[in-house]
Amino acid sequence: MEKLTYEESYELVKEEIRKALTSSPRIINEYLTHLSVSQGKMIRAVSVLICAQDSEGKINPDAVYGAAAIEIIHLASLVHDDVIDNADLRRGKETLQKKYGKRTAVICGDYLLSLALKMAAAIPNRKEYADIDLPDYISRLCLGELLQHINNKNLNLTVFEYIKIISGKTAALFEASFLTGAILGGYSPAEVKKYRKIGNYAGLIFQLQDDCLDFDKTIEQAKKPVQSDYEQGVITLPLIHALERLPDFKKKAIDDGIARADINQAVEKAGGLDYTKQVIGRYYKKAERYINKLDVTEEKRDRVAAIVKKATGMKVEL
Ligand code: FPP
Ligand code: MG
Ligand code: MG
Repeated sequence: MEKLTYEESYELVKEEIRKALTSSPRIINEYLTHLSVSQGKMIRAVSVLICAQDSEGKINPDAVYGAAAIEIIHLASLVHDDVIDNADLRRGKETLQKKYGKRTAVICGDYLLSLALKMAAAIPNRKEYADIDLPDYISRLCLGELLQHINNKNLNLTVFEYIKIISGKTAALFEASFLTGAILGGYSPAEVKKYRKIGNYAGLIFQLQDDCLDFDKTIEQAKKPVQSDYEQGVITLPLIHALERLPDFKKKAIDDGIARADINQAVEKAGGLDYTKQVIGRYYKKAERYINKLDVTEEKRDRVAAIVKKATGMKVEL
């Protein structure tokens, strides 16, 4: 089959997702059409496509299904995440759980997962891509989310445990995206390993950046709830840093509980956001080492680097 340009494949991914969401049975159609994927950044799908590009920038058409499947897995996880986090807003719109209730949202999340699996099964030459183990990545996603839940309100959470949580809940699917792209792009196992590493760092960076948003952005900027992680019992790196740096604050938090204003003040005093940005910088450097080792054109290397930059929150065109 003839290869596609990036623009062609990007449009096809959007079309495949739109078709999957809008052609479901009538009973579930209203809920799924409420979910607008195109208002999201589609950074995972874009990662698949960019990683799949060959030396001429062309893409194996099978990558369209891989990208769409991963984006729908992500969507399923967000629908469930909004139930868990009791969130009202996602991508600037009312969440499914707010509009239709938690029961409906849980079922829709499950249904979306079935759509993603169907999409992956539709990859025409899927037997050639046996190394793309999407179910294993979904398992890691669930285990990361569960570990976060087990540590709900745990003010003794260590940086190590936190990184383990975000490695599962976010970095796993980024890694899956980079790996899927590289395998569908026909790269050698040694090259695929580099993409996988870069994807993992991109995911860690993306979640660290997202965790900063909760402290330093408005609801209009984030298009989702802010100042809400701690209220849901989710302890993130800026706060872990403050708890480690300020023993009196930690003691008060454990003994008497803490109000939002106290958290913001402590994070500010301890430099929790600066510290988190430094960690992002360190992961960026690690990713860069692998990007520089990719056996590709300069142009493709820049494109892969742009995804990681985007994950840091930089405004880059992909
Ligand atoms: C968003 O994090 C949530 C995730 C990255 C993963 C959620 C995973 C699950 C709910 C497990 C179930 C998975 C499937 C495939 C059905 P966040 O709450 O920190 O970020 P937010 O601010 O975007 O809500
Ligand atoms: Mg969550
Ligand atoms: Mg959430």
